[in-house]
Amino acid sequence: MQNILVIGANGTTGRLVSKILEDSTDHKPFAMVRKDIQKPFFENQGIETRLGDLEEDFSEAFKGMDKVIFAAGSGGNTSDEKTIAVDQNGAIRAIELAKAYKLQKFVMLSSMGTDNPQAVEGLEQYLKSKKAADDFLRESEMVYTIVQPGGLTNERGTEKVEIAKKLKKMGQIPREDVAKALVYALELERTKNTSFEMISGDKDLETSMKNYK
Ligand SMILES: NC(=O)c1ccc[n+]([C@@H]2O[C@H](COP(=O)([O-])OP(=O)(O)OC[C@H]3O[C@@H](n4cnc5c(N)ncnc54)[C@H](OP(=O)(O)O)[C@@H]3O)[C@@H](O)[C@H]2O)c1
Repeated sequence: MQNILVIGANGTTGRLVSKILEDSTDHKPFAMVRKDIQKPFFENQGIETRLGDLEEDFSEAFKGMDKVIFAAGSGGNTSDEKTIAVDQNGAIRAIELAKAYKLQKFVMLSSMGTDNPQAVEGLEQYLKSKKAADDFLRESEMVYTIVQPGGLTNERGTEKVEIAKKLKKMGQIPREDVAKALVYALELERTKNTSFEMISGDKDLETSMKNYK
């Protein structure tokens, strides 16, 4: 049984990730939340919590962990300063801590479009910050996977996807499918030290994660 720190556990995707891990026999989730009031949601499902805010010292949360899934984000309506503090500097600090605590793997929830931040109006700083964190992870010597989905929806997951290192089109994907991909990435050898983009499609998720080009 591996201990998985879920950063951003209280988010829409993070809650799905935590539940999938809780239902698995191989992984035990630890939900990193930033307020005491957020703990009961997880504790009522038997999920342990760790308190931690990406803008403060959150090193305690890493004690006893084997791997980490980073699903946090400052949200779409925040200032550039907040985006840099959370999506960039918070993520970079998390990578440093994962390395310092000798964790085995860092799975990052990133985004499509980080290569061309100017392309989407209003998202420039967000995409630049995500890219800075992704690049830091690539250079960090941590074992990693970077998952880059298209637009997230709250539709039910289908586990039918299109995955490639670079997709030549935009698209959307349910958070549930992204959550499953983040969990599969904890173990799948093919995803070691790589990034991939994903949108909804017609191919099986797990098979695609083993075979994408
Ligand atoms: N929206 C899209 O279409 C899209 C597309 C591609 C990729 N993404 C990426 O996917 C991520 C997850 O999306 P989502 O919609 O599931 O996110 P979400 O519901 O907004 O959840 C984000 C989580 O991050 C946490 N967080 C924010 N600041 C924090 C801090 N300082 N310390 C610790 N935790 C903090 C929030 O905590 P609280 O619960 O305490 O507020 C929240 O639980 C996004 O952040 C983005 O990077 C999004």
